[in-house]
Amino acid sequence: MADKQAKLELGGQTYEFPVLEGSTGPDVVDIRKLYGSTGAFTFDPGYKSTASCESALTYIDGQEGVLLHRGYPIGQLAEHSSFMETAYLLLNGELPSQQEYEDFNYTITRHTMLHDQLNTFYQGFRRDAHPMAIMCGVVGALSAFYHDSTDISDPEHRKISSHRLIAKMPTIAAMAYKYSVGQPFMQPKNDLSYTGNFLRMTFGVPAEEYEVIPAVEKAMDRIFILHADHEQNASTSTVRLAGSSGANPFACIAAGIACLWGPAHGGANEAALNMLREIGTPDRIPHYIERAKDKNDPFRLMGFGHRVYKNYDPRATVMQSTVREVFEALNVKDPVFETALQLEEIALNDPYFKEKKLFPNVDFYSGIILSAIGFPTTMFTALFALARTVGWVAQWNEMISDPAQVIGRPRQLYTGPVERDYVPLSER
Ligand code: SDX
Repeated sequence: MADKQAKLELGGQTYEFPVLEGSTGPDVVDIRKLYGSTGAFTFDPGYKSTASCESALTYIDGQEGVLLHRGYPIGQLAEHSSFMETAYLLLNGELPSQQEYEDFNYTITRHTMLHDQLNTFYQGFRRDAHPMAIMCGVVGALSAFYHDSTDISDPEHRKISSHRLIAKMPTIAAMAYKYSVGQPFMQPKNDLSYTGNFLRMTFGVPAEEYEVIPAVEKAMDRIFILHADHEQNASTSTVRLAGSSGANPFACIAAGIACLWGPAHGGANEAALNMLREIGTPDRIPHYIERAKDKNDPFRLMGFGHRVYKNYDPRATVMQSTVREVFEALNVKDPVFETALQLEEIALNDPYFKEKKLFPNVDFYSGIILSAIGFPTTMFTALFALARTVGWVAQWNEMISDPAQVIGRPRQLYTGPVERDYVPLSER
């Protein structure tokens, strides 16, 4: 029995519901019995006040700008960890020992190849297909190749399909890029790191050896860490809802990719860089700030604002410092970075943005780095999907293993016509 109770007055009656406490963060009012006892639903479009599940993976404090993965602050993981170590942490709950880390890396590395017939699958796309369209199609198609690991009730099936998804996303994303530029697919090389392998499969060519630049490998790996997981965001909730019906993990991750593609979510990194390039020079910033504030103008500052963070997104902090590292390592400059810095400065001092607590989010600076490394803007969200697959897979496993797990089936506030009789055409 929960110590704390919440009281609800409805229809002249008083109802009590247990209040549950987490290890940190807001309490929740357990309303699982609300409809059964009151005949009423709650109403929460966009789920702004709804906890959809219990989770031990990621904690966000939006007011304080805190992001923890299994209790470890994102800033510490970005500085000291690797994407593969963070993946192990999210999947297993603890940082790995040296041996556990080596075993995990060995396993993931040896799942990076794709079934050769998937090469033909790519040939069906137009060369100018958006990489996210390809990712949706190819990841969903993986269900057709792995009948030996789609029994989600079998922990071993869940484990191998989780490893396959994490391992194959870099190969699938790199192949989407190669296909778009008409270059041959590069096969994985097992003596490279997860991220080094991805960089080589993306930018290497059969005609010469590809040298992974350590500073770029480290920056890319850190960007993957920053995108790994983020509580119950739209695409993660999509994966959980798809998984709640018992759909196989490949289909669930394909659903997550589709949701992430939206410009309000993972598509914002592509939109943010396109916006910064459209703004061009700092003298044009005030015009766009005014547009963003104009209710009649659909324009929004892409890479700004967040459903949860009402403070600076801690990932944006790390991203901004990574821009400087990559520029120095590649000896490049991009005037759009100066525009981004000035846009941030102006926005953060503007009463509208301060009042609505709109800060840069993870997508504001990421595109500048990815562009400097050599990715076209169309690949940005595919890279987000690559990294978020770790979080989606970890969240999916947590949901499937939760004994309280049931199929997700929200209700509605019905405002359509009440029952009426059919009118024959001759009488209309
Ligand atoms: C990601 O959920 C996650 O965790 C997502 C993510 C993850 O890791 O999974 O963090 C990744 O998706 C980051 C967000 C990337 N999206 C963008 O950068 C797109 C631009 N941002 C907005 O579309 C918006 O801020 C959202 C979608 C991110 C959040 O939307 P909310 O919480 O529904 O807030 P809202 O749209 O209701 O905005 C609140 C107010 C509104 O004004 P009012 O109607 O109250 O007058 O702020 C305004 C909005 O008009 N507003 C903006 C704005 N974002 C919100 N005004 C101008 N520019 C913006 N960017």
